[in-house]
Amino acid sequence: MASIVLGVGGGIAAYKAADLLRKLTEAGHDVRVVPTASALEFVGAPTWAALSHHPVAADVWSAAEDVPHVRLGREADLVVVAPATADLLARAAHGLADDLLTNTLLTARCPVLFAPAMHTEMWEHPATVDNVATLRRRGSVVLDPASGRLTGTDTGKGRLPEPAEIAAFAELLLLAPAALPFDLAGRHVVVSAGGTREALDPVRFLGNASSGKQGYAVAAVAAARGARVTLVSANAELPDPAGCDVIRVGSALELRDAVLKAAEDADVVVMAAAVADFRPAAAAAHKIKKSGEPPAAVPLEENPDVLAELVATRRPGTVLVGFAAETGDDNGTVLDHGRAKLARKGCDFLVVNAVGKGLAFGQSHNAGVVLGADGSERVVDYGPKSVLADALWDTLTERIAR
Ligand code: CTP
Repeated sequence: MASIVLGVGGGIAAYKAADLLRKLTEAGHDVRVVPTASALEFVGAPTWAALSHHPVAADVWSAAEDVPHVRLGREADLVVVAPATADLLARAAHGLADDLLTNTLLTARCPVLFAPAMHTEMWEHPATVDNVATLRRRGSVVLDPASGRLTGTDTGKGRLPEPAEIAAFAELLLLAPAALPFDLAGRHVVVSAGGTREALDPVRFLGNASSGKQGYAVAAVAAARGARVTLVSANAELPDPAGCDVIRVGSALELRDAVLKAAEDADVVVMAAAVADFRPAAAAAHKIKKSGEPPAAVPLEENPDVLAELVATRRPGTVLVGFAAETGDDNGTVLDHGRAKLARKGCDFLVVNAVGKGLAFGQSHNAGVVLGADGSERVVDYGPKSVLADALWDTLTERIAR
């Protein structure tokens, strides 16, 4: 159980922080909520007190005998600020201490995670851009806002990242306080995720059990580390990760076209998607009816191997990463199969994980080994998928820097 301070800024997305609070407390953490005065205009103190089981104050004058303006920050394992408004980012960047939250930010020595939410103009204003750069330079993690519907009828970049995504980053920072360095700025990375669907007829398909969670974590962590991320998503029913451009595809052929196009100027391509090796040779134009003879067999034809095409057409310097979900068998262990696949595929790295018996597919946790073509091996113990993603990016940034 960790001690978390949840700072809530004065924006309409403050109501979503109540959901984030629930997620953090349900994960077993002790959470103190520190709203700003304007946050309390949106969601009142009783909500925060009831959900956190702690008294709530926005100023430094309540329970002054406890010296909360120093104690809260000192005792925290993590400070999460959600929503972080433009005003709050400015006050944090300038070291102001005019309320309990900004005092807490000055006394905290633990990781600090900002999840911004504001209108697009405010996020893009040079003042905010500078303030965010200052906070990142000092080691705070500042997520990009998500894109979509804003408070009014307008849409754009500025939505609060999904509470589940913020909670996942919080867990990552608690497990690995040095995670999420801002070291992928200026890089373009392409990540494929999910599982392709190969049409049998207009309503049926051959598919697989990939949820897309691991690939989404790889994309989300890359964005939090500063990369421009193109996420090619095959049928994943997950919210868009903040800061990523998401391209939705269905079949292996659609995924191939999207990945190859996005890869043209990519520094890294991570193929986390489960791509079908075969597709029905001819999809029926109309729904196959129950009346009549059942089809004796469904002829299949081979799909292109996207990773192999990337290897064959790579520009010098592009780093190519595959994923392999394996089960051990009479011919070798999971790692034996992984090493053989890395050699066969010709990519630079292969992340191998064991599947079956409730492992990996659809789960929020995973374990894996990052195998390098240079013989390197990084073992990542069982943990949240974001931890495996962050470890993968540690390996890849070392490689890009070479
Ligand atoms: N892959 C791909 N295109 C395909 C199949 C797989 O790009 N048509 C990529 C996957 O995204 C993954 C890697 O290749 O990064 C390994 O996928 P996997 O299905 O394990 O490889 P296969 O070559 O299909 O091997 P297997 O015979 O074990 O299925």
